[in-house]
Amino acid sequence: MDLYEYQAKELFAAHDVPTQSGEVVTVAADALAAAQRIGKTVVVKAQVKVGGRGKAGGVKLAETPEEAAEKAEAILGLDIKGHTVGKVLITEASDIEEEYYVSFLLDRANRCFLAMASVEGGVEIEEVAVNNPTALAKVLIDPLNGVDKAKAEEIVATANFPADVADQVADVLVTLWDTFVGEDATLVEVNPLVKDPSGKILALDGKVTLDENAMFRHPDQAALVDNAETDALELKATELGLNYVKLDGEVGIIGNGAGLVMSTLDVVAYAGEEFGGVKPANFLDIGGGASAEVMANGLDVILGDPDVKAVFVNVFGGITSCDAVANGIVQAIELLTSQGVAVTKPLVCRLDGNNADEGRRILDEAEHDIIELVDTMDDAARRVAELANA
Ligand SMILES: Nc1ncnc2c1ncn2[C@@H]1O[C@H](COP(=O)(O)OP(=O)(O)O)[C@@H](O)[C@H]1O
Ligand SMILES: [Mg+2]
Repeated sequence: MDLYEYQAKELFAAHDVPTQSGEVVTVAADALAAAQRIGKTVVVKAQVKVGGRGKAGGVKLAETPEEAAEKAEAILGLDIKGHTVGKVLITEASDIEEEYYVSFLLDRANRCFLAMASVEGGVEIEEVAVNNPTALAKVLIDPLNGVDKAKAEEIVATANFPADVADQVADVLVTLWDTFVGEDATLVEVNPLVKDPSGKILALDGKVTLDENAMFRHPDQAALVDNAETDALELKATELGLNYVKLDGEVGIIGNGAGLVMSTLDVVAYAGEEFGGVKPANFLDIGGGASAEVMANGLDVILGDPDVKAVFVNVFGGITSCDAVANGIVQAIELLTSQGVAVTKPLVCRLDGNNADEGRRILDEAEHDIIELVDTMDDAARRVAELANA
């Protein structure tokens, strides 16, 4: 789960990472009062879960409370890379002498944690990585040892931080690591980490991604959940207990088991190359024990996606036998139809494994003209790609 900047900074503060507090408001009039309370020049910052807000006009300086209200008015409702700004952070403006970059993240490829640091912060770090790769230090972190002061000093030295800030930045790295581990995050990033004219180091921006699988260990994190920016279908699927991920193609995919669904994505993408480059529109795993209700929920989510042109139901009967799944499909169509959902998109079904013959017989006998039975996974992938492209 990605957090907003203001939420990231709340976690930073709780772990002693030096940062500024501020107030979050959703209407311009409240920005005026917030700026008055802060009592000095403020920055009005769009709170959206996407980077590059500064460049997009989502970060503005305001010298007076009236100006803060004006800037808030201008930023609220702004579209930043497809994210509509619904709230702004009013925070103290800092004088910036230098801008740095620091982060910790889960490095899946190296099965390790990774520290990244650069004295060229402020700009997008992807640009630094491409244009000036030597300016971005990368240091692997042994998960068992973590980051103590000595490791932090190694990161600081690798990134060539100036001597006058080296010790402070090392301290910040230790507290930032504390945030990373203590909150079960998969990313903590500060860009920019700044030095002000008095030489003090401060996190002016924050990006945190929390590991949702660990949220049971952090009851407090439930308060950070904000679905204002979550895709409506993903939200619905989560509420129904389905594993659903929206992708950008045209073929709806339903399968039982994450491994099967993943390989289905591959065969559909491969088959789609022949049919106008159609691709999977989503990932939907209904898991084991797919009852009619679960199947109906899955179909409902998939059919609700206007991008879906055809659906591939790929089931391997294991513990759940294929006849149960087939009955689930038939009942799901009836259930949805009775609820007024238009079930008209073609449904290509492949059933294999436990009781597959009986499952196919049930679908055959149901004589639904949208259902097409195909014997193998590859042929079914080709057929559904063809239908999605028609
Ligand atoms: N509190 C602040 N005081 C002064 N300048 C700021 C403050 N917050 C951000 N900035 C400036 O705005 C730039 C962009 O802000 P940032 O929070 O990093 O947003 P983003 O990374 O989304 O563009 C920063 O690099 C910094 O130069
Ligand atoms: Mg930033």
